[in-house]
Amino acid sequence: MIRHQDILLANQFDREFLDHLYDITNKVRTIAKTNSGSLYLKKLLSDKRVMLYFSQPSTRTFMSFLNACQILGMSHSSIRDTTTSSEIKGESKLDSLRTLSSYVDLIIMRTPDAEFAEESASFLKKTRRPVPIINAGSGSKEHPTQALLDIYTLQRSFKNTGGISGKTILFCGDLSRGRTVKSLIKLLEKYDSVKIIQCAPDELQLARGFKSSNRLEEYLHEADAVYMTRIQDEYDKVKGETQRSYEGFKLTKDNIKLMKPNSIIMHPLPRRDEISSDIDDDPRAMYWRQCRNGMWTRVALIAYLFERDEDILKY
Ligand code: NCD
Repeated sequence: MIRHQDILLANQFDREFLDHLYDITNKVRTIAKTNSGSLYLKKLLSDKRVMLYFSQPSTRTFMSFLNACQILGMSHSSIRDTTTSSEIKGESKLDSLRTLSSYVDLIIMRTPDAEFAEESASFLKKTRRPVPIINAGSGSKEHPTQALLDIYTLQRSFKNTGGISGKTILFCGDLSRGRTVKSLIKLLEKYDSVKIIQCAPDELQLARGFKSSNRLEEYLHEADAVYMTRIQDEYDKVKGETQRSYEGFKLTKDNIKLMKPNSIIMHPLPRRDEISSDIDDDPRAMYWRQCRNGMWTRVALIAYLFERDEDILKY
C-alpha cells in the first residue's frame, strides 16, 4: 500500500486505502469507549503539534479536526482570519506557510484558493521541514476529508444491503460549485457500478454526462442515498445571481415519502432550507451522524499520517 504524506485530493485514495482507513476508524471508536482506551489515544500523538489554518468560514470541519487532534493528545494552534496575520502587511502566502511549518508537525488548511493546498505541499517538500498538509476544503475544487467521511457513512448505512457497489446516489442542489460533491463522486467511482444522478438548476449542474433532472421528485424513488447541498451564493460572480427560487430542490416531509424505506438522506451541512427540519428525526436522515463520523475518520487519518495506524489496529 502506498503511504500518503499529504491529503490533498480525493483521487489519491484507492480502495485498499479506504478499507484500511475505515478499519482504523472502527477500531479507534471501540478503543475510545473505555477510559483506559481514551488515555491510550491521548498519549499517541502527545509529542506532536498541529496548526489549523482556516482562511474560510467553517464550523464542522474545523471543530471535528480540532477534536480529532485533541483525542490524539496533540497540541494545537489556529489561524482563522488572515487579516490578523502578516499577510496584511504584504507577506506572501508561501512565506506565511513556511513560517507556520517551522512551529508544527502538521498543517490542516482550508482556503478559498482552489490550488493552494497542493501548491503548499509541493513547496514544503522543497524546504527543510516538509510537514504534511491536509486539505480541509480548497475553493470549489476539493474537500477530500469530507468525501472520506461520506463514504464511511454510506458504507455503514449499506452494511446489510451489499455495500456501496451497485447503489444509486442522487445529488441535489449546487453541484458545479460543490467541492464536497466533486470529491465524493471521485471516490464513488472507485466502487463498482455506482449510478449517479444529478438534480440541479441548469446553471449549477456538473458538466459530466450524468443522468440529470430539474425536478427532485423525478428520481427520488430510484435513490439509495440522496445527497443534498446548499446553494453556495458566496461564489456568485454577481451578487444575488442565485437569488432565484429553489423550491424544486428541497426535501420535505411530503416528498421523502417517495424515497425507498431503506434509503438515506445526507448533507455535508450547513443547510439552509433545502432539508426541512421536521425530517431530522426520520431514521433515514444521516446528516448528524455524518458530523460524528467525520471526527472519527479524521482521528484515523491523522494517526495514519503519523504512522500509528498499525499500533491502533494491534491495541
Ligand atoms: C461544506 C464546505 O465547506 O464545503 N461544508 C463542510 O465542510 N461540511 C459545504 C458548504 O459550505 O455548503
